[in-house]
Amino acid sequence: ARATIGLTGLATMGRNLARNIARHGHTIAVHNRTTQKTTDLVEQFGDEGDFVATESMEEFVGAIAQPRTIVIMVKAGDPTDAVIDELVPLLDEGDIVVDGGNAHFTDTIRREKALSEKGLHFVGMGVSGGEEGALNGPSIMVGGSDHAYEHLGPIMESIAAQVDGTPCCTHVGPDGAGHFVKMVHNGIEYADMQLIAESYDLLRSTLGLSPKEIGEVFEEWNGGDLESFLIEMTADVLAHDDASGEPFVDVVRDAAEQKGTGRWTVQSALDLGVPVTGIAEATFARSLSGHTSQREAARKVFSTSPEGEREQPDRDTFVDQVRAALYASKVVAYAQGFDQIAAGAEEHDWDVDLGMMATIWRGGCIIRAQFLDRIREAYAEEPDLTTLLTTRYFAEAVKDGVDAWREVVATSARTGVPTPAFSSSLAYFDGLRRERLPAALIQALRDNFGAHTYERVDREGTFHTLWAGDRSEQEMS
Ligand code: 6PG
Repeated sequence: ARATIGLTGLATMGRNLARNIARHGHTIAVHNRTTQKTTDLVEQFGDEGDFVATESMEEFVGAIAQPRTIVIMVKAGDPTDAVIDELVPLLDEGDIVVDGGNAHFTDTIRREKALSEKGLHFVGMGVSGGEEGALNGPSIMVGGSDHAYEHLGPIMESIAAQVDGTPCCTHVGPDGAGHFVKMVHNGIEYADMQLIAESYDLLRSTLGLSPKEIGEVFEEWNGGDLESFLIEMTADVLAHDDASGEPFVDVVRDAAEQKGTGRWTVQSALDLGVPVTGIAEATFARSLSGHTSQREAARKVFSTSPEGEREQPDRDTFVDQVRAALYASKVVAYAQGFDQIAAGAEEHDWDVDLGMMATIWRGGCIIRAQFLDRIREAYAEEPDLTTLLTTRYFAEAVKDGVDAWREVVATSARTGVPTPAFSSSLAYFDGLRRERLPAALIQALRDNFGAHTYERVDREGTFHTLWAGDRSEQEMS
């Protein structure tokens, strides 16, 4: 029998996704540039389902029933284009090519256009959940045409994580929509991790708690509103000792790397004009951590830091304040991320159901959390809401936590513990709720040095003051 689906690119993610598909009863043709990986997969896991091992691209394409559904799981960028170029001449009209990598959504838009001109369907599919998710149920964000989803959707829904009987997989929208949403998911993942890291640093540097003790705090937090995959994992990592006997976190070099999705999120947000301060600070914090020579130079000159005069706030009070600050900052980061999805959808004319994004992120993905159920509920109550921040549940949480949040940011400033994500989220919150912003002064300055004009609070129109002349006001329109 011909395979119902094919998958090429059998590195860890591809291999696990192929196994997941096979385990769900779909016959799958598998292919890899070097055949050894294909042979290994079938040798080790062949009894998990129906695999059709193939060696050449021709054999692979020939093994799949038409219209073919073919998933590509290779590195984003040039390697993906190379596989598409090799594949396309072998395909027939109506076949569906699926890119399950972390592609930049603009590449996906380009590829979709090129393939649809050839009568093929191209699907950019965001897959989250790492190796474990790919094998046991990821969260899947599918882009592309309705027609493509009719074929691909049922298979992907069957292998996705399930929460309360709902699959964590949906058709997000046309062309680049799936990869766009996956990109913002990763941006939020950066913000989540930075907030966790700042919380850890505060508890360690201010209270002097050990990694193990902090791990216990995270374990406790995981029993409440903050319950999530990343908080649970933090507890686990902080409890872990290296073979040398040192806490594991102390033997890891403190330079955070990135493969690009966080940076893309910020670049796109700048283009869209959406302030995603939490994600941006998280991305810049990773960059700062990697600037070894600048860090060394600064350490030499500014070694006397206020950390020397460590404050000793009451342990239980401070732990609880950090928890509240973490929660409030997290609300801000998610509100900003969802704003970006809404803006991206509008810009590209994608009809993205924001509540559905929260729904499919409840399970399978890296940012899975109880919290996402609250977001799903907020969108169910008010599908066109202006900002998540002001919805009932989150507004209450932020109001309850704001004093603690201020206290934590103030403490970090006094003691010299860097908290870019906590601080910028608080500044964003204060900026939004402010009656008057100093943006008025910026407008005045722009008009003064560049005749850039301004609007007035008391009447309609655009104005310019003759700053270098008699300072009379001109009405421009
Ligand atoms: C996921 C993750 C994954 C991502 C890694 C690493 O949703 O499963 O987001 O797609 O590649 O988390 O990302 P960085 O190397 O950029 O940290």
